[in-house]
Amino acid sequence: MTPTKLLGIPENFAEHGGGVDHLIDVVHYFMAALFVGWTLFFFYCCFRFWCRRNKTASYRGVQSHVSTHLEIGVVIIEAILLLGFAFPLWTERTDRYADIQQQDPVRIRVIGYQFAWNYHYPGADGKFGRIDRHLIQNVGDPCIDPADPNGWDDYTSPVLKIPVGRPCILQVTSTDVIHNYAIVPMRIQQDAMPGEDIPMWFRPIQKLETYVVCAQLCGEGHANMRGIMEVISEGAYDSWEAEQSAGASERNKSKEPGLAQQ
Ligand code: CUA
Repeated sequence: MTPTKLLGIPENFAEHGGGVDHLIDVVHYFMAALFVGWTLFFFYCCFRFWCRRNKTASYRGVQSHVSTHLEIGVVIIEAILLLGFAFPLWTERTDRYADIQQQDPVRIRVIGYQFAWNYHYPGADGKFGRIDRHLIQNVGDPCIDPADPNGWDDYTSPVLKIPVGRPCILQVTSTDVIHNYAIVPMRIQQDAMPGEDIPMWFRPIQKLETYVVCAQLCGEGHANMRGIMEVISEGAYDSWEAEQSAGASERNKSKEPGLAQQ
């Protein structure tokens, strides 16, 4: 029974998630050792300096250097955790980002608002329309410039759908306050900042339906800021995308050119 299982953290469904779980396990083993050590020390002190056993106070204090050596030991273990586990995990995330962009990733903009998530897909052409944040009409608006042809087949969805096995780059933003977009089964999260599209990436390894949550206190509805995420087969994703994208193109075509601004 590993700490991640014991703590009830949802099962991992991301390619990189094993490393994250491993780090959580190692940190918890270390914390357990510290807990047992400090507890034993506490009871030792209670016994050692029991008032009925020590009628007079000792003014000499601690003479041995055991505590210093223990402190140094703790510092060394913490350095191993950082340099041996945390930094390599982070390096893997950042170093592979350029490579992932070459592997035909799915790109989706994630727009957080009080109190839900909206998703902006680039459509069949794979290109997002130009974003102009001044065009905002409602909270959660993707703010696509209607004058940009790249945006004519863009569509939005209140549910995140992604294909299994393909890398996924989510560009996280917000239209009001700071939120935090967190997918626990994918072992990934990112602050959603107004005015910025901040990328995060992962590769789902299995089909599943799960929740995404907001992990930053953002107002009275924070706890309700839960969305649905579906990891579906590549074929199902392709046909869903084609259908949504064609629908968006159709809607944009029906608008008269001069009225596109509305
Ligand atoms: Cu959005 Cu908490």
